[in-house]
Amino acid sequence: MKLACSGESLPEQNMHSYICADSELAGNENVFSALKRGIECILFYDAKAKTNVMNDYGFPKTYLIKGAPGCGKTTAIKSAVKHGREFSARIGKTIFVTNIGNKFKSEYYSKSAQELRKTFNAFFSGSQINIGIIEDIDTVFSRRNDLMNAEDSANLGEALNLLEGVETVNLGNYIVIATTNNSLDTALEQRLGECILEAKGPETLEHYEKILKINLNGTAKFVPDMRKAAYIAMQKKLSGRDVKNICKTLASEIICLDANPEIYSLSMAKQKQFLESGFAKISDERIMGIIEEYEKQKTFKNG
Ligand SMILES: Nc1ncnc2c1ncn2[C@@H]1O[C@H](COP(=O)(O)OP(=O)(O)OP(=O)(O)O)[C@@H](O)[C@H]1O
Ligand SMILES: [Mg+2]
Repeated sequence: MKLACSGESLPEQNMHSYICADSELAGNENVFSALKRGIECILFYDAKAKTNVMNDYGFPKTYLIKGAPGCGKTTAIKSAVKHGREFSARIGKTIFVTNIGNKFKSEYYSKSAQELRKTFNAFFSGSQINIGIIEDIDTVFSRRNDLMNAEDSANLGEALNLLEGVETVNLGNYIVIATTNNSLDTALEQRLGECILEAKGPETLEHYEKILKINLNGTAKFVPDMRKAAYIAMQKKLSGRDVKNICKTLASEIICLDANPEIYSLSMAKQKQFLESGFAKISDERIMGIIEEYEKQKTFKNG
């Protein structure tokens, strides 16, 4: 097909057939696909001309991911950024990722807000394609209250001002992605909420099976019935992090440690060979027991 005015030929419209094939994410597809789209939008940016065709149509510049602890918010961002990096490499562009965490908080009073502005000014300059990530934003910017100290108040105020700039078309080229487990300052939430995404974590049998397989890795074949294990995890509504932690205990029980002290001075390859020769299947009852012990420990309270 030819463009009428320029004579440039248009490529086939097959961009969206590209998916992150080896994503380690189970569930949270809504989060992944929204972030993927956002990243694909900023990739249109022409840093020399400082223009992005997508600004003519509009797309969310801020993304707020909400969800329970360990449901996979960070994992969803990692998968989307991984997709973005792979895709940008294919089209010869580079994405810069900046983590805006508590690091910007300076030990010198009143310098923190300045540090924050520096980070955003780099985005606003429009010299590159940027993704700003603010993980657990509720721990970075406090909610306004009477007990708020002057520095926290200055940081929140600066963040609100800077995020207002995000809405300005042609002021740089970036998206800001934030995550939280808790409610935020209302004004902050409004500025970050151009696209609010609920991360539900793993929900289906397939999701749980995927997390189990990823985390059991070399020991997966020693779990007699993976589907059954996934079913138990699903019924108990375990988070992705819970499943990951349980997998660590499971794996360590599959590996039969021998008290033979000579093993400890062998090469790693030999140690692996020795350990793997002793791998034994773990019973369904033991898997259930490990899950129950884990849940008990999680709810254990001192005192
Ligand atoms: N949906 C998921 N798919 C795959 N793995 C997951 C998922 N959720 C959690 N995990 C596993 O649990 C670990 C912790 O998850 P992650 O850090 O993404 O959760 P989070 O929602 O960001 O937690 P937090 O609220 O504590 O920041 C990950 O390293 C990953 O291995
Ligand atoms: Mg996280």
